[in-house]
Amino acid sequence: MLRIILLLFAVANTAWALLSCEEMKGKIFRCGVYNLNTTDGVEYQTFCDMLTDGGGWTLVASIHENNAHDNGRCTVGDRWSSEQGNNELTNNGDGNWENLKTFGNVASATSDDFKSLAYFSIDDAKDIMIWQVPNNTPVSMWRSNSYLRYRTYGQFLSGLGGNLQNLFQSYYPIRQGVYTPGSDNGPSFPVKYDEGSPADALSHFGPESQPFLTAGYVQFRTVNGAQHINPICPGVKVDLTWGGCQHVCVGGSSFWGDVKNCGDFSGMTYSGYGTGTGWSVDKTLIESTFLIFYR
Ligand SMILES: *[C@@H]1O[C@H](CO)[C@@H](O)[C@H](O)[C@H]1NC(C)=O
Repeated sequence: MLRIILLLFAVANTAWALLSCEEMKGKIFRCGVYNLNTTDGVEYQTFCDMLTDGGGWTLVASIHENNAHDNGRCTVGDRWSSEQGNNELTNNGDGNWENLKTFGNVASATSDDFKSLAYFSIDDAKDIMIWQVPNNTPVSMWRSNSYLRYRTYGQFLSGLGGNLQNLFQSYYPIRQGVYTPGSDNGPSFPVKYDEGSPADALSHFGPESQPFLTAGYVQFRTVNGAQHINPICPGVKVDLTWGGCQHVCVGGSSFWGDVKNCGDFSGMTYSGYGTGTGWSVDKTLIESTFLIFYR
Protein backbone atom coordinates (compact mmCIF):
# COMPACT_ATOMS: atom_id res chain seq x y z
CA MET A 1 0.00 0.00 0.00
CA LEU A 2 2.72 2.41 1.03
CA ARG A 3 4.61 1.53 -2.13
CA ILE A 4 1.60 2.36 -4.25
CA ILE A 5 1.17 5.69 -2.51
CA LEU A 6 4.85 6.48 -2.96
CA LEU A 7 4.63 5.50 -6.60
CA LEU A 8 1.59 7.72 -7.15
CA PHE A 9 3.39 10.55 -5.38
CA ALA A 10 6.41 10.12 -7.61
CA VAL A 11 4.25 10.11 -10.74
CA ALA A 12 2.36 13.20 -9.58
CA ASN A 13 5.63 14.93 -8.76
CA THR A 14 7.12 14.20 -12.16
CA ALA A 15 3.98 15.45 -13.80
CA TRP A 16 4.44 18.75 -11.99
CA ALA A 17 8.03 19.34 -13.03
CA LEU A 18 7.11 21.78 -15.73
CA LEU A 19 10.06 22.39 -18.01
CA SER A 20 8.50 24.88 -20.42
CA CYS A 21 5.31 26.81 -21.08
CA GLU A 22 4.61 24.34 -23.86
CA GLU A 23 4.03 21.67 -21.21
CA MET A 24 1.26 23.86 -19.76
CA LYS A 25 -0.76 23.83 -22.95
CA GLY A 26 -4.26 22.63 -22.19
CA LYS A 27 -3.74 23.18 -18.43
CA ILE A 28 -3.22 26.93 -18.22
CA PHE A 29 -4.87 29.45 -20.51
CA ARG A 30 -3.80 32.86 -19.22
CA CYS A 31 -0.66 34.67 -20.30
CA GLY A 32 1.50 35.61 -17.34
CA VAL A 33 4.46 34.76 -15.14
CA TYR A 34 4.72 31.12 -14.07
CA ASN A 35 7.20 28.85 -12.29
CA LEU A 36 9.17 26.39 -14.37
CA ASN A 37 11.96 23.91 -13.53
CA THR A 38 15.21 23.22 -15.30
CA THR A 39 15.98 19.53 -15.87
CA ASP A 40 18.41 19.90 -12.93
CA GLY A 41 15.51 20.94 -10.68
CA VAL A 42 16.22 24.64 -10.38
CA GLU A 43 12.92 26.46 -10.11
CA TYR A 44 12.62 29.86 -11.81
CA GLN A 45 10.01 32.27 -13.11
CA THR A 46 9.31 33.47 -16.58
CA PHE A 47 6.46 34.63 -18.79
CA CYS A 48 4.27 32.28 -20.82
CA ASP A 49 2.28 33.39 -23.83
CA MET A 50 -0.69 31.04 -23.93
CA LEU A 51 -2.55 32.73 -26.80
CA THR A 52 -0.41 32.90 -29.94
CA ASP A 53 -1.19 29.98 -32.28
CA GLY A 54 -2.54 27.89 -29.41
CA GLY A 55 0.01 29.15 -26.87
CA GLY A 56 2.88 27.41 -25.12
CA TRP A 57 5.55 30.08 -25.77
CA THR A 58 8.26 30.53 -23.10
CA LEU A 59 9.97 33.92 -22.74
CA VAL A 60 13.71 33.19 -22.72
CA ALA A 61 15.34 36.61 -23.14
CA SER A 62 14.93 40.31 -23.75
CA ILE A 63 17.32 42.58 -25.61
CA HIS A 64 17.05 46.11 -24.28
CA GLU A 65 19.18 49.09 -25.26
CA ASN A 66 19.73 51.26 -22.18
CA ASN A 67 21.87 53.93 -23.85
CA ALA A 68 22.30 54.22 -27.61
CA HIS A 69 23.94 57.65 -27.42
CA ASP A 70 27.65 58.09 -28.00
CA ASN A 71 28.45 57.86 -24.27
CA GLY A 72 26.73 54.48 -24.02
CA ARG A 73 28.60 52.39 -26.61
CA CYS A 74 29.52 48.98 -25.12
CA THR A 75 29.11 50.19 -21.56
CA VAL A 76 27.11 48.99 -18.53
CA GLY A 77 23.80 47.46 -19.61
CA ASP A 78 25.15 46.12 -22.93
CA ARG A 79 25.07 42.46 -21.90
CA TRP A 80 24.22 41.15 -25.38
CA SER A 81 27.35 42.81 -26.75
CA SER A 82 29.95 44.07 -24.28
CA GLU A 83 29.81 45.87 -20.95
CA GLN A 84 33.60 45.98 -21.07
CA GLY A 85 34.18 48.43 -23.88
CA ASN A 86 35.03 48.15 -27.55
CA ASN A 87 37.54 45.47 -26.65
CA GLU A 88 39.76 43.64 -29.10
CA LEU A 89 40.81 40.97 -26.58
CA THR A 90 37.31 39.52 -26.07
CA ASN A 91 36.20 39.01 -29.65
CA ASN A 92 32.97 37.24 -28.74
CA GLY A 93 31.72 40.15 -26.67
CA ASP A 94 30.69 39.18 -23.16
CA GLY A 95 29.84 35.69 -24.47
CA ASN A 96 26.26 35.72 -23.23
CA TRP A 97 24.73 34.34 -26.42
CA GLU A 98 26.79 31.18 -25.88
CA ASN A 99 27.31 30.81 -22.12
CA LEU A 100 25.22 29.70 -19.12
CA LYS A 101 25.00 33.07 -17.41
CA THR A 102 21.63 34.58 -16.54
CA PHE A 103 20.71 38.19 -15.72
CA GLY A 104 17.77 40.49 -15.20
CA ASN A 105 14.26 39.71 -14.07
CA VAL A 106 11.14 38.81 -16.01
CA ALA A 107 9.17 41.71 -14.52
CA SER A 108 11.86 44.17 -15.68
CA ALA A 109 12.38 42.68 -19.12
CA THR A 110 11.39 45.83 -21.03
CA SER A 111 13.56 48.08 -18.83
CA ASP A 112 16.73 45.99 -18.74
CA ASP A 113 18.29 42.98 -20.44
CA PHE A 114 16.86 39.64 -19.33
CA LYS A 115 18.32 36.18 -19.82
CA SER A 116 16.31 33.38 -18.27
CA LEU A 117 17.48 29.90 -17.34
CA ALA A 118 14.99 28.90 -20.05
CA TYR A 119 17.41 30.28 -22.68
CA PHE A 120 19.62 27.20 -22.32
CA SER A 121 17.73 24.77 -20.06
CA ILE A 122 14.97 24.19 -22.61
CA ASP A 123 16.69 22.05 -25.24
CA ASP A 124 13.80 20.91 -27.38
CA ALA A 125 12.59 24.25 -28.74
CA LYS A 126 11.48 24.16 -32.37
CA ASP A 127 10.63 27.76 -33.19
CA ILE A 128 11.22 31.25 -31.87
CA MET A 129 8.86 34.20 -31.54
CA ILE A 130 9.83 37.86 -31.17
CA TRP A 131 7.74 40.70 -29.72
CA GLN A 132 8.80 44.32 -30.14
CA VAL A 133 7.47 46.17 -27.12
CA PRO A 134 7.98 49.83 -26.08
CA ASN A 135 10.49 50.18 -23.24
CA ASN A 136 9.12 50.23 -19.69
CA THR A 137 5.92 48.38 -20.58
CA PRO A 138 4.68 46.29 -17.62
CA VAL A 139 4.24 42.53 -18.12
CA SER A 140 0.45 42.68 -18.26
CA MET A 141 0.61 45.12 -21.20
CA TRP A 142 3.34 43.45 -23.29
CA ARG A 143 0.99 41.72 -25.64
CA SER A 144 -1.40 44.61 -26.20
CA ASN A 145 1.37 47.24 -26.46
CA SER A 146 3.61 45.30 -28.84
CA TYR A 147 3.79 46.85 -32.31
CA LEU A 148 5.29 43.79 -33.98
CA ARG A 149 4.87 40.13 -33.10
CA TYR A 150 6.22 37.39 -35.36
CA ARG A 151 7.39 33.81 -35.20
CA THR A 152 9.11 31.15 -37.22
CA TYR A 153 6.99 28.14 -38.09
CA GLY A 154 9.26 25.59 -39.81
CA GLN A 155 10.78 24.07 -36.63
CA PHE A 156 14.28 25.21 -37.69
CA LEU A 157 15.61 25.11 -34.13
CA SER A 158 15.14 21.33 -33.83
CA GLY A 159 18.05 20.90 -36.23
CA LEU A 160 20.24 23.53 -34.54
CA GLY A 161 20.48 22.31 -30.97
CA GLY A 162 16.97 23.00 -29.67
CA ASN A 163 17.84 26.39 -28.16
CA LEU A 164 19.77 29.55 -29.04
CA GLN A 165 22.66 28.80 -26.70
CA ASN A 166 23.37 25.61 -28.68
CA LEU A 167 22.72 27.36 -32.00
CA PHE A 168 25.41 29.95 -31.27
CA GLN A 169 27.88 27.78 -29.37
CA SER A 170 27.82 24.77 -31.70
CA TYR A 171 26.73 26.09 -35.08
CA TYR A 172 27.15 29.87 -35.45
CA PRO A 173 29.67 31.20 -32.89
CA ILE A 174 30.01 34.94 -32.31
CA ARG A 175 33.67 35.57 -33.19
CA GLN A 176 34.89 38.83 -34.57
CA GLY A 177 37.53 38.75 -37.30
CA VAL A 178 37.35 35.11 -38.41
CA TYR A 179 34.38 34.83 -40.78
CA THR A 180 34.09 35.93 -44.37
CA PRO A 181 31.72 38.86 -44.87
CA GLY A 182 28.41 37.80 -46.39
CA SER A 183 29.21 34.22 -47.30
CA ASP A 184 29.61 33.17 -43.65
CA ASN A 185 26.31 34.74 -42.66
CA GLY A 186 24.13 32.33 -40.72
CA PRO A 187 20.77 31.06 -41.95
CA SER A 188 17.52 32.99 -42.23
CA PHE A 189 14.04 31.61 -41.63
CA PRO A 190 10.67 33.01 -42.69
CA VAL A 191 8.26 34.33 -40.06
CA LYS A 192 4.51 34.78 -39.76
CA TYR A 193 3.22 38.03 -38.31
CA ASP A 194 0.64 38.01 -35.50
CA GLU A 195 0.88 41.80 -35.11
CA GLY A 196 2.11 44.13 -37.86
CA SER A 197 3.45 43.07 -41.24
CA PRO A 198 6.74 42.73 -43.12
CA ALA A 199 6.19 46.25 -44.52
CA ASP A 200 5.75 47.64 -40.97
CA ALA A 201 8.89 45.84 -39.85
CA LEU A 202 10.90 47.33 -42.71
CA SER A 203 9.62 50.87 -42.13
CA HIS A 204 11.43 51.22 -38.76
CA PHE A 205 14.91 50.78 -40.25
CA GLY A 206 17.01 53.55 -41.80
CA PRO A 207 16.16 54.44 -45.41
CA GLU A 208 19.77 53.70 -46.48
CA SER A 209 19.49 50.18 -45.01
CA GLN A 210 16.08 49.27 -46.42
CA PRO A 211 17.19 48.42 -49.99
CA PHE A 212 19.48 45.69 -48.57
CA LEU A 213 16.75 43.99 -46.52
CA THR A 214 14.01 41.48 -47.12
CA ALA A 215 11.37 41.69 -44.41
CA GLY A 216 9.51 38.68 -43.06
CA TYR A 217 12.54 36.72 -41.82
CA VAL A 218 14.80 36.23 -38.84
CA GLN A 219 18.50 35.81 -39.60
CA PHE A 220 21.33 34.62 -37.36
CA ARG A 221 25.05 35.52 -37.07
CA THR A 222 25.59 38.05 -39.81
CA VAL A 223 29.14 39.12 -40.69
CA ASN A 224 29.60 42.72 -41.79
CA GLY A 225 32.13 44.14 -44.26
CA ALA A 226 34.82 44.41 -41.57
CA GLN A 227 34.14 40.92 -40.10
CA HIS A 228 32.16 42.17 -37.11
CA ILE A 229 29.29 39.98 -35.96
CA ASN A 230 25.64 40.47 -35.03
CA PRO A 231 23.81 37.44 -33.57
CA ILE A 232 20.19 38.20 -34.64
CA CYS A 233 18.50 40.30 -37.31
CA PRO A 234 14.93 40.69 -36.06
CA GLY A 235 12.24 40.67 -38.76
CA VAL A 236 14.61 40.83 -41.74
CA LYS A 237 17.29 39.02 -43.68
CA VAL A 238 20.14 40.96 -45.26
CA ASP A 239 21.56 40.90 -48.79
CA LEU A 240 24.54 38.59 -49.08
CA THR A 241 26.82 41.34 -50.30
CA TRP A 242 25.76 43.97 -47.77
CA GLY A 243 28.43 45.04 -45.31
CA GLY A 244 26.14 47.09 -43.07
CA CYS A 245 24.22 44.48 -41.04
CA GLN A 246 25.11 46.32 -37.82
CA HIS A 247 22.50 48.98 -38.67
CA VAL A 248 19.61 46.50 -38.48
CA CYS A 249 20.78 43.51 -36.41
CA VAL A 250 21.16 43.32 -32.63
CA GLY A 251 23.73 42.15 -30.11
CA GLY A 252 27.31 41.71 -31.15
CA SER A 253 30.92 40.90 -30.87
CA SER A 254 32.75 43.50 -28.84
CA PHE A 255 35.38 44.94 -31.10
CA TRP A 256 34.21 47.30 -33.77
CA GLY A 257 36.65 49.44 -35.69
CA ASP A 258 34.07 52.18 -35.37
CA VAL A 259 32.78 52.40 -31.80
CA LYS A 260 29.47 53.80 -33.10
CA ASN A 261 28.53 50.21 -33.98
CA CYS A 262 29.25 48.77 -30.51
CA GLY A 263 26.35 48.04 -28.17
CA ASP A 264 23.24 45.90 -27.75
CA PHE A 265 21.54 47.65 -30.68
CA SER A 266 24.89 47.82 -32.51
CA GLY A 267 24.91 50.53 -35.22
CA MET A 268 21.22 51.42 -35.09
CA THR A 269 21.93 55.05 -34.18
CA TYR A 270 24.79 55.49 -36.64
CA SER A 271 23.20 58.53 -38.34
CA GLY A 272 21.75 60.00 -35.14
CA TYR A 273 19.54 58.87 -32.26
CA GLY A 274 16.09 57.70 -33.39
CA THR A 275 16.13 59.94 -36.45
CA GLY A 276 14.91 57.35 -38.95
CA THR A 277 17.32 58.93 -41.46
CA GLY A 278 20.44 57.56 -43.18
CA TRP A 279 21.45 54.35 -41.39
CA SER A 280 19.48 55.10 -38.22
CA VAL A 281 16.33 53.34 -37.06
CA ASP A 282 13.34 55.39 -35.92
CA LYS A 283 12.44 56.37 -32.37
CA THR A 284 9.85 53.59 -31.98
CA LEU A 285 12.48 50.95 -32.61
CA ILE A 286 15.36 52.43 -30.64
CA GLU A 287 13.11 52.85 -27.59
CA SER A 288 11.67 49.36 -27.62
CA THR A 289 12.74 45.93 -26.42
CA PHE A 290 12.93 42.60 -28.26
CA LEU A 291 11.31 39.79 -26.29
CA ILE A 292 12.42 36.36 -27.47
CA PHE A 293 10.35 33.21 -26.91
CA TYR A 294 10.75 29.50 -27.62
CA ARG A 295 8.21 26.82 -28.38
C1 LIG B 1 9.88 21.88 -9.56
O1 LIG B 1 10.43 20.69 -9.02
C2 LIG B 1 10.15 20.52 -7.62
C3 LIG B 1 10.90 19.28 -7.18
O2 LIG B 1 10.55 18.18 -7.97
C4 LIG B 1 8.66 20.42 -7.40
O3 LIG B 1 8.39 20.33 -6.02
C5 LIG B 1 7.99 21.66 -7.95
O4 LIG B 1 6.60 21.53 -7.84
C6 LIG B 1 8.38 21.85 -9.41
N1 LIG B 1 7.79 23.10 -9.91
C7 LIG B 1 7.41 23.27 -11.16
C8 LIG B 1 6.82 24.58 -11.49
O5 LIG B 1 7.53 22.40 -12.01
